Amino acid sequence: MNILLTGGMGYIGSHTATLLATAGHQVHIYDNLCNSNIETLARIKKITSKDIAFTHADIRDTKKLTQVLQDENIDAVIHLAGLKAVGESSKNPIDYYANNVQGSISLIQAMQASNIKTLVFSSSATVYGDPVYLPYDEDHPTSPTNPYGQNKLHIEEMLQDLAVSDAAWKIACLRYFNPVGAHESGLIGEDPNGIPNNLMPVIGQVVTGKLSSLNIFGDDYDTPDGTGKRDYIHVVDLAEGHLASLNWLNSHAGCHAFNLGSGDSYSVLELLHHFEAASGQNIPYQIVGRRLGDLPEYYAKADKAQSLLGWKAKRGLAEICSSSWLWIKNTRSH
Ligand SMILES: NC(=O)c1ccc[n+]([C@@H]2O[C@H](COP(=O)([O-])OP(=O)(O)OC[C@H]3O[C@@H](n4cnc5c(N)ncnc54)[C@H](O)[C@@H]3O)[C@@H](O)[C@H]2O)c1
Repeated sequence: MNILLTGGMGYIGSHTATLLATAGHQVHIYDNLCNSNIETLARIKKITSKDIAFTHADIRDTKKLTQVLQDENIDAVIHLAGLKAVGESSKNPIDYYANNVQGSISLIQAMQASNIKTLVFSSSATVYGDPVYLPYDEDHPTSPTNPYGQNKLHIEEMLQDLAVSDAAWKIACLRYFNPVGAHESGLIGEDPNGIPNNLMPVIGQVVTGKLSSLNIFGDDYDTPDGTGKRDYIHVVDLAEGHLASLNWLNSHAGCHAFNLGSGDSYSVLELLHHFEAASGQNIPYQIVGRRLGDLPEYYAKADKAQSLLGWKAKRGLAEICSSSWLWIKNTRSH
């Protein structure tokens, strides 16, 4: 298939592009590089030994996007482009609506104009909000607690309406839990521009000396060691979830939500200790106040993805930490 990845130069997109190209698909990346680096393109090409097409443009440029979809004979789109910092979304909500919601409308319009109706969308576990029960399954009520999560829910609702209005659409909304880890080559990984928000890139900055210590936001949650517990999922497992979704959508119309998580949860301190064991590095940390909106614990019930898509997370914390360490070592040497 000819597959367009919006946001394909980012963390999850670069791993998904690599996997799809290796599986024999023709990959076209469309990204404005607002949170990624052009160097990633050469790295994906190096890992895959495949030609990867790239357009440097914004998804809100509907004309450009339509042109690329048509010129490249695209069959399906994986829509990863978006701003993703939860805290920032509360400070600048309109920027988030403009980029994430408006950008998705632009993409859908470009796809409609090009008669392309297969779409995999990067949604998020943040659509669920405060847990009514755990683990979250796909029927758990959706009540996001921040503008970023609202964006994801609005886009999912739009896609639901679209699939109802036209039965030819085949859509999967993948609700990711906490992506971590890196490609086994050590050539691609999470490398955000500016100050990172996620745990692993911050650990990376402590190891490389950019930060003196890791801030852990709260140790007084109702969890065994008091730090928040999350469902960490290896980014390569996540990439495999996209391929499994595309294959499944071949024979399934409608709009479908799937949790992509490991089904387990680990505390920040547990992840940190696994990372220290994998890397042989000591990571200094300090406990600071809780972050507004952080939940004590959440994790996925991922049975739907297993039974329908035949997908299951296979890689555990040891592999997550060793691949992250390889990536961090490599970025340090650049
Ligand atoms: N990483 C996570 O923790 C996580 C969790 C759940 C969901 N998601 C979602 O998955 C998707 C990918 O996340 P990621 O971690 O790879 O983030 P990322 O920031 O590394 O990648 C996103 C990419 O989209 C690009 N982009 C953003 N706005 C764009 C626009 N208007 N036009 C074109 N390109 C644009 C960025 O340059 C970047 O390369 C996002 O939609 C994110 O919300 C991420």
